[in-house]
Amino acid sequence: MSKVTVVGAGNVGATCANVLAVNEVANEVVLIDIKEGFAEGKAMDIMQTAQLMGFDTVVTGVTNDYSKTAGSDVVIITSGLPRKPGMTREELIGVNAGIVKSVTESILKYSPDAILIIVSNPMDPMAYLTYKTLGLPRNRVIGMGGALDSSRFKYFLSQALGCNANEVEGIVIGGHGDTTMIPLARLATYKGIPVSTLLPKEKLDEVVQSTMVGGATLTKLLGTSAWMAPGAAASSVAESIIKNQGKMIVCAAYLEGEYGMKDITIGVPVILGRNGIERIVELELNEEEKAKLAASEAAVRKTNSVLHDMKLI
Ligand code: 2OP
Repeated sequence: MSKVTVVGAGNVGATCANVLAVNEVANEVVLIDIKEGFAEGKAMDIMQTAQLMGFDTVVTGVTNDYSKTAGSDVVIITSGLPRKPGMTREELIGVNAGIVKSVTESILKYSPDAILIIVSNPMDPMAYLTYKTLGLPRNRVIGMGGALDSSRFKYFLSQALGCNANEVEGIVIGGHGDTTMIPLARLATYKGIPVSTLLPKEKLDEVVQSTMVGGATLTKLLGTSAWMAPGAAASSVAESIIKNQGKMIVCAAYLEGEYGMKDITIGVPVILGRNGIERIVELELNEEEKAKLAASEAAVRKTNSVLHDMKLI
């Protein structure tokens, strides 16, 4: 039996619970929110699709009762405000940091062995805050940003190539920010063929640029931040853990010397299995990519410093 809790029944949380159910990632999914009756309603709506979609996962909703989340194997934290058009993810730190800290503490009381997946923005600092405050081993605190950004990168690559997105490989490392993420165009492939040999440089640069502002573009179109791909990305991270798939997914991980960085949580490729982060994969980066990663590191550290200023860590 496996149990996943999703904290926050807003757009991202509810979509994530839905994808977890439809893909039967776990036997049981608990959706929890502070708004009276909201998670219950979302869960009921999802469960009314069970016969239509043919899934057996049981989704339940609760208002603020963390005892119902007890014994979760994986907990996905989506709590906090989404961004509004024109806002950066970093601007959300003042409101979301306190929420994430209290939510993760409540979760740990009832699920002391859970693996935590952080979705709330700014994602890298929120994962860092969680690692620093809960005292869990680093394999159990995972930020989902890179999974989402890599999926967007593959989408934009497939659009440029005019091909099936499932036949494209590509990863995005670094921070989950409009200027901090690094789509690794050099390593992207279509059926094993480097995309750099299939697309002109200007087109590839355009794909990279569209990926970096992928979230902002949707925020502008939708009036609030996206939820379909973020929810599905969080579910894919949980699935590799729950089903011990050992997939390589880019996630924010707490680094202890990998990529020459310490005391920071930032996006790098990791192998995800039953223990959460089973291994951090160190890629051979070229000088240009290393310089971009150093700039990304500096930006993430700057946002992390706000957590110190807020006396949260
Ligand atoms: C996004 O990029 C919500 O940060 C998330 O859409």
